[in-house]
Amino acid sequence: DIIPAEAESVATTASSQDKLDKGVRAEAQRRRTFAVISHPDAGKSTLTEALALHAKVISEAGAVHGKAGRKSTVSDWMEMEKARGISVSSTALQFNYRSTEASPDDLTDNVINLVDTPGHSDFSEDTYRVLTAVDAAVMLIDAAKGLEPQTLKLFQVCRHRGIPVITVINKWDRPGQTPLELLDEIHERIGLTPTPLYWPVGIAGDFRGLLRRGEDGAPREYIRFTRTAGGAKIAPEEVMDADAALAKEGSEWVTAAEESELLSATGQDHDQELFLGGQTSPVIFASAMLNFGVRQILDTLVELAPPPRAREDVTGTPREVTDPFSAVVFKVQAGMDTAHRDRLAFMRIVSGVFERGMVVTHAQTGKPFTTKYAQTVFGRERSTVESAYPGDVVGLVNATALAPGHTLYFEKKVEFPPIPSFAPEHFSILRAESAGKYKQFRRAVDQLDSEGVVQILRNDLRGDASPVMAAVGPMQFEVVAARMKAEFNVEARMEPLAYALARRTDPQSVDELNRQRGVEVFTRSDGVLLALVSDKWRLQYIQKELPDLTLEPLVAAA
Ligand code: G4P
Repeated sequence: DIIPAEAESVATTASSQDKLDKGVRAEAQRRRTFAVISHPDAGKSTLTEALALHAKVISEAGAVHGKAGRKSTVSDWMEMEKARGISVSSTALQFNYRSTEASPDDLTDNVINLVDTPGHSDFSEDTYRVLTAVDAAVMLIDAAKGLEPQTLKLFQVCRHRGIPVITVINKWDRPGQTPLELLDEIHERIGLTPTPLYWPVGIAGDFRGLLRRGEDGAPREYIRFTRTAGGAKIAPEEVMDADAALAKEGSEWVTAAEESELLSATGQDHDQELFLGGQTSPVIFASAMLNFGVRQILDTLVELAPPPRAREDVTGTPREVTDPFSAVVFKVQAGMDTAHRDRLAFMRIVSGVFERGMVVTHAQTGKPFTTKYAQTVFGRERSTVESAYPGDVVGLVNATALAPGHTLYFEKKVEFPPIPSFAPEHFSILRAESAGKYKQFRRAVDQLDSEGVVQILRNDLRGDASPVMAAVGPMQFEVVAARMKAEFNVEARMEPLAYALARRTDPQSVDELNRQRGVEVFTRSDGVLLALVSDKWRLQYIQKELPDLTLEPLVAAA
């Protein structure tokens, strides 16, 4: 029999647990964690800044290109980053945002986590890994250029991982293709059905506003934008009904309304289930530079993008957001500075509440990990994080043991599946400059391989002394060279290999493949057999001549 005092304490514990669960669930529910996938120059930095402007994180846009006379928080972060020599704030930007659609008595802000996908010259495996940390992606397309290679590669990763994609057609203030042509291209090239939520009024280069589409394609309202000087401020909006829009814009409005109805006739209306299932993509036309359509992007994220959800562990069991704390490391940054062996690991919280100072367990080693030096990344100001919730990104300082894909947890044990390796496109032989340092060289190679800095490939022909490095972007090789010198005191030499792509193969195909010109088979450290091929014509030729050989594309293969 339970004595009354104990019964009471059991009941109290149960109810406080219940409260905690509700709190975590509510915090998860109001979060949206996403990344922008785009090709260089599509306007990702400009859009990031425009989003920050709309969320009132900064008061004026224009810092991205350092336009005269403007200072902002964004550029201050950049200065700080330069001083530190590592890019911190660009990993995640967190801000509060209240949707304009929210009912007046709903006073809770949403919390938006924008996780950066490094691009340009620092395009690397990290760029893909970031996509394992988000719940949705914004595919940013330049209206004049349509789908470009880097966007396609990143899109394939989203598709593979089941990440729902919102499409933003940017630079509508500049001459470009027609909106229908752009939608056709998306549909035909990647088999994604675009379902516009907002349709442009005015052709590309004459951006007047957005027709907001109703469920049957009929206009719900017209949002007319006014330019501000240099696009530095939020563009004022005037919202009006169809009659007023017709009176204001005349034939431009008529065209937009007709096209919108045409879309409905071809089934291009939003459907939440199909969107979450990755079959359709809501579309918004915008000008990041003029801040047109930016509020609409934020509102769409809040209304349609999924909040953090349960994630399956290695056994396929879901870790619910209300379970005790757990997180996945998706990126590790090691300082290039010899004086400070600083390593910053970024984790995405999967479940529970994170509190700074908490001692968690590193699932891969079973060892405790103290989180005294956790940092938020990074809203209004860079600060030490006190607590964080599912969907949030937290940076951990001096995280020597952590590598991308690793799990951290509290109390209830869990291990999440590793992050897959992505299709490499750059290959290089790695050699130690001096034979005397071979031991250090081996250690360095193993360490950098286990951290996922590059993929290490080996075969019997080449032996162990000069393994082959495979990477998604060439910058990964530079990181290897710099870290070998700084951390292991070994000089390494690299010789580029004349292969351009990799395909997964099987033991039965190895001998025949190795007999082909322009092909060489390797074993990657995760045991996968990779055939490196000199170019796509050679690949096509082999596939045609020897159709029985296994040559499968890897994730994100171009
Ligand atoms: P990225 O991060 O994706 O590489 O692109 P970024 O924002 O740096 O933008 C690339 C260029 O495109 C910049 O021009 C930027 O001003 C311009 N841009 C971005 N969004 C828009 C838009 O909505 N409309 C127009 N017309 N241009 C846009 P730049 O010539 O490189 O620099 P700047 O001369 O503007 O400083």
